[in-house]
Amino acid sequence: MEIIKLRNGVEMPILGYGVYQVSPSECERCVLDAIGVGYRMIDTAQAYFNEEGVGNAIKKCGVPRNELFIVTKVWISNSGYERAKASIEESLRKLKTDYIDLLLIHQPFGDYYGTWRAMEEAYKAGKLRAIGVSNFYPDRFIDLAEFSEIPPMVNQVETHVFNQQTEAQKIMQQYGTHIMSWGPFAEGRNNLFSNETLRSIGDKYGKSVAQTALRYLIQRGVIVIPKSVRKERMEQNIDVFDFALSGEDMQRIGQLDLGHSLFFSHYDPQTVKWLCSMGKRSC
Ligand SMILES: NC(=O)c1ccc[n+]([C@@H]2O[C@H](COP(=O)([O-])OP(=O)(O)OC[C@H]3O[C@@H](n4cnc5c(N)ncnc54)[C@H](OP(=O)(O)O)[C@@H]3O)[C@@H](O)[C@H]2O)c1
Repeated sequence: MEIIKLRNGVEMPILGYGVYQVSPSECERCVLDAIGVGYRMIDTAQAYFNEEGVGNAIKKCGVPRNELFIVTKVWISNSGYERAKASIEESLRKLKTDYIDLLLIHQPFGDYYGTWRAMEEAYKAGKLRAIGVSNFYPDRFIDLAEFSEIPPMVNQVETHVFNQQTEAQKIMQQYGTHIMSWGPFAEGRNNLFSNETLRSIGDKYGKSVAQTALRYLIQRGVIVIPKSVRKERMEQNIDVFDFALSGEDMQRIGQLDLGHSLFFSHYDPQTVKWLCSMGKRSC
């Protein structure tokens, strides 16, 4: 497993396991399977309603806590200093741990400056080993990085072969921030799993389309967190460290970039209204 060193020296695996859309009832089993096949980084969120399942797996897996790297995210409804502070305690309780390895602000909406202050405080208190953001496009990312004492160490944004985020990654690098991909397979959109370019390149190395898509991101220094509820796919998705794509392969895959989201844009007023309405519901 390759390791990424964050700005503060904390080390995190470049590949982990994401649990978005893993039901609360299945989450514990999935995370135990993932840890069993070798994953050490788990990505959850308050808004996934499955932090408790992750916490149960942390307790039961038999792997020492300091060998695991747990990521969770503060949801919009918990934005603002006081609410965020309370929600960090809640996440710690649900995750059954006394520290979180990486905490992210899930969305750049609500009082996320207040959230950031609560996170900086918890970081200094040793409850969080690293802090970052998610879905911060360059404009909001630069704003927060410029006006906070501790700039984000990670920014988790939609990143896959069809939305490669090369410009955003360059801006993050200027602040010593690591890019982390959500949706490394674009959840299969745009027929990713039957893409001919990925298939023909993968065939040369005896690797699947999924493995080729992940390897491309990893070689660009992008942290990835593929999700699958199936153990055999978990095994396949972590088996990407015994081959390297050539410069020519990287270039060909680079050409698949459409340069826009396959989900929704955080610049679209309707998306912003929709996310804000979800933030007003309790969660
Ligand atoms: N910060 C954010 O706003 C945000 C947003 C979305 C996601 N995330 C994080 O990013 C993680 C990954 O993104 P995602 O879950 O949206 O989507 P994803 O990882 O791009 O794709 C998951 C889909 O691909 C399928 N799949 C997985 N491995 C496969 C393989 N080897 N071959 C064929 N199909 C395969 C899965 O099906 P099966 O499960 O049936 O195998 C599932 O339908 C999430 O779990 C979450 O932790 C964060």
